[in-house]
Order: sequence, then C-alpha cells, then structure tokens
Amino acid sequence: MFTHEELHVTAGRRSGVPIVVAIHSTARGQALGGCRIWNYADWRDGVEDALRLSSSMTAKNALAGLANGGGKTVVALPPGARPDRRELLLDVGDAVEALGGRYGTGPDVGTSSDDMVVIGERTSHAFCRPVSAGGSGSSSPGTAAGVLAALRATVDRLPDPGGATASARSWPAGRTFAVVGLGSVGADVARRLASAGARLVVSDVRADAEALADELGARWASPESALTAEVDVLVPAALGGVLTPALVPELRCRAIVGPANNQLASADVAGLLHDRGILWAPDYVVSAGGIVHAVATELYREPEAAVAARIDAIGETLTRVYQLAEAEGLTPAAAAERLVTERLVTERLGTN
Ligand code: PHE
Repeated sequence: MFTHEELHVTAGRRSGVPIVVAIHSTARGQALGGCRIWNYADWRDGVEDALRLSSSMTAKNALAGLANGGGKTVVALPPGARPDRRELLLDVGDAVEALGGRYGTGPDVGTSSDDMVVIGERTSHAFCRPVSAGGSGSSSPGTAAGVLAALRATVDRLPDPGGATASARSWPAGRTFAVVGLGSVGADVARRLASAGARLVVSDVRADAEALADELGARWASPESALTAEVDVLVPAALGGVLTPALVPELRCRAIVGPANNQLASADVAGLLHDRGILWAPDYVVSAGGIVHAVATELYREPEAAVAARIDAIGETLTRVYQLAEAEGLTPAAAAERLVTERLVTERLGTN
C-alpha cells in the first residue's frame, strides 16, 4: 500500500543526478525533512531511503509538537559519481521549489548549512542557513542538546549503579556510554557527556576521529566492539540500520538512545530488544532537537530560552513513551507509534 502523499524523482537539469523527494504527510502542516546526499548502488535504493526517512520525519515532527508533516530529499549519487556540487545543489533547490511550499528542506547526512545557502538560491524553503546568511545555523547543536535530554530521561529509569556514592548517582557521572559515530552530532554529544563527568567509549569509521577520544579521555574502540561494549547506554550516532537481529544477543548495554535515523534494521528488532530487557528510545523522538531548533527559531521566531525549553521537553516526551509502554505492555516503538497516530488524528479533526 502506498501510504505517502507524494513521491517525486527527477534527473537534475544541470547535474543529471536522480533527486528523490518524498512527502509522507502534510496532515499537521508543511512537510519538513533534511536533504541527504549519499552514494547508492541503484537509485531505487535512494527511493526506499527517502520513503522510510520521510515517514520517520512525520513521526518526529508530530511527537516534537511541531505543526509540520514529514518529508525527505535523497540525492542518489551513482557509485563513483563526482558531479559539480553547486550544480547539484541548485538542482535540489529546483526540486524543492517545484513542490510549491508543500515541503521544506534542511541539512542531513552529506549536506551542511552552507549548502542550504546554495539550495536557497532556487527556493525559499531551505532551513538552517548560517546565522550570517539569515538562517538558524547548523542543526547539530540542537540535535545534541535533545539527545542529552533523552539520555537523562532514560538513565533516570535505569536502576542505580551498584554501590554508588551520592556523587556517582548524579547524572551523568557514574554512568558509562558508548558513542558510535563522531560526526558533528556524535562528537558534540560525546563532548557534553565527557565534560559532565561520564565515562565514555567512542568510535568512528574514520581513524582520525581517535584524536577526539584522547581529548575527552575516552576509550577508543572499533565500531563493532563499541556496539557491544559493556556500558549503561549505547548511543548510535552514525548511519541507520545498526540494530540488526544478529546484533541483539551480543549487546551488553542496558539502554539504547541515539540520534541516528532509522536505527532498527527491521521492525522485529524492537521486540527482540524488549525481550532482552534493553530499553530502546525511538530514534525519531531522540533526534528531534535539530529540527525543533530550526523551526522554533526560523518560523516561530522564539527567543533562545524558549527554543531550549522545547528541546529539553524531548526528555518529557520520551518519559511519556516509556510510561505508556510500561502501562500497556508495549515496546517503546509501539508506544511511540500510538502517540504519533493520536497526534495525526487529532490534527485532522482540527481539535488540537
Ligand atoms: N536533518 C535533520 C533531521 O533529520 C534536521 C533538519 C531537517 C532540520 C529539516 C531542519 C529542517 O531532523
């Protein structure tokens, strides 16, 4: 069944590269979601990614309380393609503008705030341009702040560390975290945790990220061993699909809370984690801080403190998800989906 509202695939007029824009839902307002530029063996894989990621954006924006639906752009670079970057970004701008404002874009994996300036030459629906260019800047600090709020809400539900002193119980000191992926969000989360006294294992596919481990006094590990490290919380902060059925029996964490989009390789993993007693925070709840920062700053024109409070509220939203899951014997994934459905239905009835 086709459960999206729109799916557009165009070959960029300048670059010739396939540009996919999926609009999952506009029930709560303009569909929003970032622009991913990534290599795909087949452009159809990019279409699949866009379909999956755009429906997660509907869930993300709804649970974050934004009056926005979900969409996503995926630029499906063929293997080895090296198109002119500026031409490619102008093509993305045209693809967004062609939708007449039903969809707005922003940065994602493979795109930055500076890229939004170029996309913005062709459309007014580009978020997160640098502050100097009139935008709200990088979405990464907002995303990282939201991850911290989600981590705190999760750690609050874990049993006290055995034999902890009062200071070890204060959050997040006395707890251990494995941050897998040290891109701009992962590195920011690791920094915030380290400076608050947490013990860290960190990893990245790029070996040069090891310098950050030294800087933070963190233990450096390969991505494979970091995923199965014995820690309180695993923090997936790289690409999606890391939580596979095969990985679940190997895990030695008590909870999984991270900003990577679409962490579950398949839907059954939510149940497998639940059966092992590992608390999984739905990724779209955890990672909403970036888009919340962009929308509250650029559309709602809220002052910084109000924006920060909205990002902090991610912790309360996640607590509601956990509480509903416990009360109804659901996985957190199923509980979050139920809340999303409620929000979408209420919005349609116009009672919200
Ligand atoms: N790409 C980010 C996300 O997945 C952030 C973002 C998207 C920010 C769209 C603004 C607009 O949430």
